[in-house]
Amino acid sequence: MQKETATWQERITSNESVWNLTHDIHPVLNPLYDESVRRILGRASLGDAPRVLDVGCGLGGWIFKILEFRPGATCVGIDMEASFIERARAEAERRGLSDRVDLRVGDAVRDLPDERFDLIVCAGLPEAFGGLEPMLERLRPLLAPQGRMIIGQGIWEREPDEECLRVLEASRGDHDTLERTIDSIAHAGWAPVYGHKSTEQEWDDFVWACVDGLTRWALDGGDGQEGVDTPRILLAVSEYRHAWLNGYRGTLGYMTFVVRPVPRSWQALVVSYELARRTWTAPTP
Ligand SMILES: C[S@@+](CC[C@H](N)C(=O)[O-])C[C@H]1O[C@@H](n2cnc3c(N)ncnc32)[C@H](O)[C@@H]1O
Repeated sequence: MQKETATWQERITSNESVWNLTHDIHPVLNPLYDESVRRILGRASLGDAPRVLDVGCGLGGWIFKILEFRPGATCVGIDMEASFIERARAEAERRGLSDRVDLRVGDAVRDLPDERFDLIVCAGLPEAFGGLEPMLERLRPLLAPQGRMIIGQGIWEREPDEECLRVLEASRGDHDTLERTIDSIAHAGWAPVYGHKSTEQEWDDFVWACVDGLTRWALDGGDGQEGVDTPRILLAVSEYRHAWLNGYRGTLGYMTFVVRPVPRSWQALVVSYELARRTWTAPTP
């Protein structure tokens, strides 16, 4: 029983067809409405012609929003999934944006370009770097001194119970509370300047888009694939819905932050202050 349920993540999240079909319904592959993306971009202090890097760009959900938001922007997008990059390139071509976007198949850690960007987006893949702080450290040299980074990060909205951890195949240490996540960002030498917590409705819409995408795949043989195994996919949809409704809904949250790098010369001061504040407890009167 345990093993059967534990495979829903593999069956769903590792299958690119699901994301392709979900993207048609919900372009950004994270729980964010378009207006939230625009509001977050509005807080990233972008100039007229920013140079942007999107690490783990998926099908280009953020990239196309940025190119629309700043008609002078140019973007480099990197994702390990070749089919996503292929589709994002076709989309850029269709929109007449190919000259403003450079989409590359590559690894988020190993294949980063050797240049500086005004904005870096890294939404929903801190685990690829081994966590939030290593991700911030790895991406720092690629950001211009006055640049901004937009990061997407899971948080615990409340203490996860055993069922939640089981369906997510996660441990308590994989995420933190909102407060402690912000502390970690500051402790890593960054200044958080904006945060958007995805609402329950944003989460629900995103999950429903995945469920709809999977169901289309099962029932309509979507994504042009031959020999779709309808019963297996329907079973996976059911497991996914169960994991959401009975496992992590209301417990796993999603934050999008805009952060700025604190100059190295100030970092020691800020980090020691953050550390002292974390460990200091008020004396009892
Ligand atoms: C949850 S999706 C988010 C996609 C996109 N950032 C968005 O918000 O629409 C995570 C993406 O990270 C990519 N990814 C995961 N690990 C990666 C790695 N080590 N290198 C490059 N891409 C990776 C996946 O292929 C997937 O497209």
